[in-house]
Amino acid sequence: MVCLGNICRSPLAEGILKYKTKNKNIFVDSAGTASYHLGKLPDNRSIQIANKYGIDISKQRARQFSEIDFDRFDKIYAMDTYNFASIISIARNQSDRNKVDLILNEINPKSFDNIPDPYYGDGDGFQKVYDMLDEVCDVIANKL
Ligand code: 4NP
Repeated sequence: MVCLGNICRSPLAEGILKYKTKNKNIFVDSAGTASYHLGKLPDNRSIQIANKYGIDISKQRARQFSEIDFDRFDKIYAMDTYNFASIISIARNQSDRNKVDLILNEINPKSFDNIPDPYYGDGDGFQKVYDMLDEVCDVIANKL
């Protein structure tokens, strides 16, 4: 699960998908394409909204996506088209590129819809992000 800062959207996506796949042998992780927040906890607003649904994301720490992740993961989901392009830009070959998709394409294939960045908005943005991720993570979990 990859966003920009790895403090708002992708930590929620990681927490939600882990929660929905806890009985499956799946490893879920998250990262950001930017390095602004390395080592930081998720944004408090993400921690709070996850808590509301019984999901603890407070043990996560921000890290930056790197090309090693193409070897470590079978599937790489970008939260928006900007981060999708950043990930693709460091892909080494077609096999790397084939692993990358926009997360909302799991709901509407080829729609290229974004999970909006809630960082500078009000608290409501985090509820919207949570609801979108909850819906798409159901689709992903059911396929696994
Ligand atoms: P995220 O949100 O990509 O969902 O973690 C952001 C976090 C921080 C910044 C932008 C987006 N920032 O500009 O610092």
